[in-house]
Amino acid sequence: MGTTKTRLPCRLSETGLFGADMNTLGEGVHPFSPQFALWSDAAEKRRWIWLPPDSQIDTSDMNFWTFPAGTKIWKEFTRDGTRVETRLIEKQSSGTWYTVAYLWRDDQTEADAVPDGLMNASGTEHDVPNADACWTCHSQQPDKALGFSAIQLAHSPMDAADPNEWTLARLVEANLLTAPPEAALEFSDGWPEAERALFGYLHANCGTCHNPEGSANSLTGLDLWIKADDLAKTAEESSVYLAIVDVDIMKLDVELEATKRIDPGSLENSALYQRFLNKGQSWSMPPLASEVTDPTGQAMLEAFILGLE
Ligand code: HEC
Ligand code: HEC
Repeated sequence: MGTTKTRLPCRLSETGLFGADMNTLGEGVHPFSPQFALWSDAAEKRRWIWLPPDSQIDTSDMNFWTFPAGTKIWKEFTRDGTRVETRLIEKQSSGTWYTVAYLWRDDQTEADAVPDGLMNASGTEHDVPNADACWTCHSQQPDKALGFSAIQLAHSPMDAADPNEWTLARLVEANLLTAPPEAALEFSDGWPEAERALFGYLHANCGTCHNPEGSANSLTGLDLWIKADDLAKTAEESSVYLAIVDVDIMKLDVELEATKRIDPGSLENSALYQRFLNKGQSWSMPPLASEVTDPTGQAMLEAFILGLE
């Protein structure tokens, strides 16, 4: 199934992710896990990054990091314990990124590039997007990696038992950031647990597009991306809270009756909730990559809206 349509290697074994066999990580490859996960219809995921030796990540803008040329990041999708797909993005010396997905062979010994994508991969409900479709999401921020960020990696080392796993604290310790944060980026006490989880969820699942640099933001002004300096505030003072609670919707040309982004106490009149709940509409959110409403996200949103009265 080798192909010349991708400028990245045709086989996953040639990308440097693995060393001796297809389970052992290659030299300098580190796992990482965003503390707030992206819902993709219940697929299991693992992620790894390789940074070129002696390089640093430019963190002068703590909300949007810039990666050194040569950076490679992989994300693997598993269904029912079987590896289905591994995605790769790699930054070129020109500053552009190449993207491709590799489809795992049935015997799990190798995965082959599928730049054209594939529906229902390996007999599962998993769809592999074509290499152009990656850009719908991965072009929405100044640099193109979406989950390897200050907020996403600021979880406690206790959540990262593997000492090889990158967290914000370990990146600082290893001197890999040009401008380390002055303090650990932790939520202040003004953030109740439920708000941390919900706003983190919106950050990961909606902030991809709804961030100050994203297309959805320029269309609607709806910013769901938690900023590093939001953590020191209270939840109510955060930029995301102020953008949604009791705020009128911007777009009126959709067939949706709700008039507020979030109307305290009313699920009916909360456009953010209605767009999240209802799938298969032109106005459903997120607009792609999910055909099933995530029950966890739904429960968090309901509790938040109904608790606001
Ligand atoms: C529906 C939006 C969407 C599409 C389409 C998409 N991605 Fe992503 N991707 C994300 C988000 C959001 C993250 C960060 C959260 C996570 O890792 O789950 C991410 C993470 C990744 C990562 C880990 C590095 C990072 O950016 O955090 C890789 C590698 C990746 N995607 C590759 C791809 C490739 C290759 C394609 C196309 C074949 C693709 N993605 C298509 C939204 C998308
Ligand atoms: C792939 C990009 C993308 C993602 C991811 C995404 N959105 Fe959107 N969103 C858009 C675009 C584009 C619009 C403007 C078009 C429209 O109104 O449908 C929009 C509009 C909206 C609006 C209307 C805002 C207003 O004031 O009228 C809401 C509410 C919304 N999105 C909520 C969400 C939520 C909640 C999520 C996450 C669960 C999400 N979006 C994820 C692209 C995205």
